[in-house]
Amino acid sequence: MIINKNSVVLTVAVMLGILYACVTPRSANQGTSSQQSGSYREQHRPQFHFSPATQWMNDPNGMVFYDGEYHLFYQFYPDSNVWGPMHWAHAVSKDMVYWEHLPIAIYPDSLGYIFSGSAVVDWNNTSGFGINGKPPLVAMFTYHNVKAEKAGRSDYENQGIAYSNDRGRTWIKYSGNPALVNTSNHKDFRDPKLVWDDDSKQWVVVLAVGDHTEFWGSPNLKKWRYLGEFGKELGAHGGVWECPDLFSIKVAGTGEKKWILIVNLNPGGPNGGSGTQYFVGNFDGKQFIPDPNFAQLVPKGKGMWLDWGKDNYAGVTWSDVPSKDGRRLLLGWMSNWEYAQIVPTTVWRNATTLPREMVLKQTQDGYRLYSQPARELEKLRATPFQMPATTLSEPINLTDKTGFSPAQSEWMLEFIPPVGSNVRCGIELSNEKNETYRIGFDAAKNQFFSDRTNAGNHAFSDKFANNVHISPRFSKDNTVRLHVFFDAASAELFADDGATLMTELYFPSTNFSRIKIFAEGGDVSLAKCQGYLLKRIWK
Ligand code: FRU
Repeated sequence: MIINKNSVVLTVAVMLGILYACVTPRSANQGTSSQQSGSYREQHRPQFHFSPATQWMNDPNGMVFYDGEYHLFYQFYPDSNVWGPMHWAHAVSKDMVYWEHLPIAIYPDSLGYIFSGSAVVDWNNTSGFGINGKPPLVAMFTYHNVKAEKAGRSDYENQGIAYSNDRGRTWIKYSGNPALVNTSNHKDFRDPKLVWDDDSKQWVVVLAVGDHTEFWGSPNLKKWRYLGEFGKELGAHGGVWECPDLFSIKVAGTGEKKWILIVNLNPGGPNGGSGTQYFVGNFDGKQFIPDPNFAQLVPKGKGMWLDWGKDNYAGVTWSDVPSKDGRRLLLGWMSNWEYAQIVPTTVWRNATTLPREMVLKQTQDGYRLYSQPARELEKLRATPFQMPATTLSEPINLTDKTGFSPAQSEWMLEFIPPVGSNVRCGIELSNEKNETYRIGFDAAKNQFFSDRTNAGNHAFSDKFANNVHISPRFSKDNTVRLHVFFDAASAELFADDGATLMTELYFPSTNFSRIKIFAEGGDVSLAKCQGYLLKRIWK
């Protein structure tokens, strides 16, 4: 959200904030009741994606793995289904698939709302917050001070820290907050992502500062010094930079280590509104130095996108996933600030994407970050379906063949379009009202498309379904692989083994119940067509 550019949202938020502060007594367990009242059977409710039981959510926050649990904190407003004074709500999971809601973890206070941030395990108790020889969890978040903002100050975003010694169940705010004071002269100074840099033996935090990122370093998570900055002259700049992430990763199949800098921005995404770009390079303990070939790809004004759909934003990765696992796992917010506050749900609003594993590959075109669905998602597979390879000259209707509804399903398709053909092929969902959603590949344009222009309710926003969303294809393989997850209100496409992603919402007036595999403009070989009904995750 661009708070400074969107005055309507801001005014409403400030009014709600004042009202909230005046009339709402806080109780330590307020999150619990609101988190337990949803039925999870409402229209459009995601059945295998995380969503809050009730009320508003945006960015995932504080993602850290500790003692067998993946923690997910998230931007939450317990008193409404639109954005308001931000809290960190909390859920835990053993597998990133099945989630347990916990009480709200961090409440706003006199220093401000609790905006996005991250959490780490302080293994060596550098902070001194730990007790009984156990490492504390330490979270860093942005204090967004609305009073200071209204008073016309520019230093109203500062970073606070809090710690937990009981596996994230309760959090104590540091008495010296704000731990990292805004001396930047920028009003946008937020969304700290903490990382331990083993080479420079220090904590590093990356912050989003308007049109660039800043790196700060610390020996103990409490005292911070400025290290460097990156990004004013590279990458997409159609909006304000938000929610960065910085992590090292091995190039697949090699021992080579690279650093990835993820930068979310809003607006300016590839199909409009919010989007997530990334850079490949190195971090030298002070600065991020982009790989020279990668830098050429992303001159100022051009982004390399982690996801080309409209509905993946604010994604960052889990900290402290054990090295014997070794994966870098990301979760995004499955929405877009263009319409997140007015999508047609009322009990709750918004959900996360599926968890994704980041894989850095050295391709013919240079380094590229691939995303693959986390393998734990295979647990969701119920009834399987498979059909023999065939040539597709007209659509194949699978509705009666699969024996299950596609509204909650996973598909693995392989198409081989003839070289030089104009074929458009893919998968189509529809319902009794003839609302349809299509996702697939256009051979003539060498691009993927997601078409929700006739997929149900889009009256709430003229930016939701005003055009077909597209993504270029990077793979040069003859076989086009589509791996797609459909939930009640979303599609996630992992194409070409994760080289291209598209995450897209839709709101059919009744669940999609029919499914077709289609090819238009010529024959195409369908080398694989496999699907699964997926289980729901809520009891
Ligand atoms: C991104 C964002 C962050 C901010 C939070 C406020 O969606 O705007 O920059 O911390 O949301 O809720």
